[in-house]
Amino acid sequence: MIMTSGISPGLFVAGTDTGVGKTLVTAALVKLLRRNGVAAVPFKPIHTGCPHAQAAPDLDFVLAGVEEDPGSLPPRDLLAPCRFRHPCSPHLAARLEQRAIDIARIFDCLRRLRRGGLFPVVEGTGGLMVPVSPYYSMLDILSAMSLPVVLVTRRSLGTLNHTFLSLALLRQRLIRVVAVVFNAVQQDATPEYIARDNARTIREWGRVPQLGNIPFIPGCADRPAALVSRAAEHLDLIPLGPWIGK
Ligand SMILES: Nc1ncnc2c1ncn2[C@@H]1O[C@H](COP(=O)(O)OP(=O)(O)O)[C@@H](O)[C@H]1O
Ligand SMILES: [Mg+2]
Repeated sequence: MIMTSGISPGLFVAGTDTGVGKTLVTAALVKLLRRNGVAAVPFKPIHTGCPHAQAAPDLDFVLAGVEEDPGSLPPRDLLAPCRFRHPCSPHLAARLEQRAIDIARIFDCLRRLRRGGLFPVVEGTGGLMVPVSPYYSMLDILSAMSLPVVLVTRRSLGTLNHTFLSLALLRQRLIRVVAVVFNAVQQDATPEYIARDNARTIREWGRVPQLGNIPFIPGCADRPAALVSRAAEHLDLIPLGPWIGK
């Protein structure tokens, strides 16, 4: 596999909200990048909603979707180092278990992945301003990782405010936003002329390229590999060129 050089290797997949499609986009990106000779691996630094010690549903979805032999990938403790039971914001999940989120461990795992020549595709938790501890937000963690961001958002009604707030926050921190991905997690009632204008307004007013527009994909809820393959067909790696050494 070709290694990237000269740029901070990796991407951060952020979302305007929880449930917007970050895990699906992470999986589709890992799959496409690996197909293009980039040694991409998923990294979920803070994973809530893991009901038992070995559970990591987002990571498992990505691994199932990417269809790589799990033996060829780093161990799950490295790919999802901070897992919590409750399916809620990290600050609450950590408080309920009376356990702090180990920030040093997260950055140590990230370093180890990079040192192993891997290209981490990092999935955030929730939206940018989700609290991680009494002192840090998800945005602070992302900012400290120095990674370019792919922002997953909707095309449906209400997306303009959420997307522009997220873009404004990222740019205020001088975080590079590489592209947005539009994704539809459900069939929604937004008329197409509004959805189309939302996407155009985000690209033009937000001055951000579009990496893809993934429609709602029905009938694949129990088949991650099929869902990820279909989603990947709607993504275009060209805007990522400089960030993946291509
Ligand atoms: N384009 C899509 N078509 C069909 N189902 C989708 C699509 N995008 C996401 N989903 C499903 O919607 C749910 C939320 O998506 P997910 O990627 O887990 O969001 P997030 O990681 O932002 O919380 C998951 O069950 C996922 O499989
Ligand atoms: Mg997720």
